Amino acid sequence: MVKRIEFSRTGGPEVLEFVDAPLVEPQAGEVRIRHQAVGLNFIDIYFRTGLYPVPSLPSGLGTEGAGVVEAVGDGVEHLAVGDRVAYAQGPLGAYAEQHVVPADKVVALPDGVDGETAAASMLKGLTVQYLLRQTYRLEGSETILFHAAAGGVGSIACQWARALGVKLIGTVSSPEKAALARENGAWATIDYTREDVVERVRELTDGAMCDVVYDSVGKDTWETSLDCLKKRGLMVSFGNASGPVEGVNIGILNQKGALYVTRPSLNGYADTRERLESMCADLFAMLESGQVKIDIAQRFPLAEAGKAQEALAGRLTTGSTILVP
Ligand SMILES: NC(=O)c1ccc[n+]([C@@H]2O[C@H](COP(=O)([O-])OP(=O)(O)OC[C@H]3O[C@@H](n4cnc5c(N)ncnc54)[C@H](OP(=O)(O)O)[C@@H]3O)[C@@H](O)[C@H]2O)c1
Repeated sequence: MVKRIEFSRTGGPEVLEFVDAPLVEPQAGEVRIRHQAVGLNFIDIYFRTGLYPVPSLPSGLGTEGAGVVEAVGDGVEHLAVGDRVAYAQGPLGAYAEQHVVPADKVVALPDGVDGETAAASMLKGLTVQYLLRQTYRLEGSETILFHAAAGGVGSIACQWARALGVKLIGTVSSPEKAALARENGAWATIDYTREDVVERVRELTDGAMCDVVYDSVGKDTWETSLDCLKKRGLMVSFGNASGPVEGVNIGILNQKGALYVTRPSLNGYADTRERLESMCADLFAMLESGQVKIDIAQRFPLAEAGKAQEALAGRLTTGSTILVP
């Protein structure tokens, strides 16, 4: 048997149950991984609450983990039993001691990346890779606004932007988070609980405003984010921490300066094996060179996944959070 988190109905953290489930053998093209650590991500909350639909109930939860390959299905060439591996796009069910994952979503870890770091950074780090290197290929002369700059994705973005020479203005909700974002390389921070974000961006950029806004907060920040862009700037809406952006009048993009908008996802970018490998190579190089360091600021036992999600949704976490089986 395998311990795992399951839920039979959508709702608050109380719907999560810690149960015994049968050990599943990998089918052709799959591997079974014994987890060293499991990544906690906001998307897990969207599935639990029902914002994102799950294929069926009861369901497992979680899409990211790292550990050791324990069993290999037919036809898998690039992985063997005993390999240290990680994945960020698994089928729901990563909140478990072991999980069966399609092998084409699994990558071997280089010596310089340990399992806990991988579980804390695969999904968030690959997201930053596509945001800063693909959705808009930042070169170094740009000024960008990045919301939730002290969070999991934000902490990696601050460091990656610093490495590129980009001026990242990060929004945060407290002085402690502001200090953390600046330590990680944010060029400036704005505490949105005390300061007017648009006015501060105007001051910080001498009226030029931002080339790109990266907004994972969603509903609460949509309009503010558009107002922080320069003409023909790019709005990257990539999350719903405060709820989804809905009912957009497309004319607003013209009124605010012929703006561009995109709504990307990791699955939309790491959609082939080749692309996943190239994005991982970029991320692992940033980790191994020390240009990006992963701050695992919270560790929860797997059984306390609900508490971990409460902390993440309640803005009580910084950096990355892992669940330890
Ligand atoms: N599209 C993609 O491919 C993709 C991939 C990964 C993550 N994401 C998105 O990126 C965001 C960050 O993910 P993460 O796992 O690293 O989480 P996180 O940033 O560690 O946590 C979310 C942060 O958002 C801020 N926030 C603002 N309004 C909030 C609200 N109403 N409720 C909760 N938090 C709020 C909080 O920071 P402050 O207290 O400083 O405001 C909070 O700490 C999420 O929205 C996630 O969905 C998208």
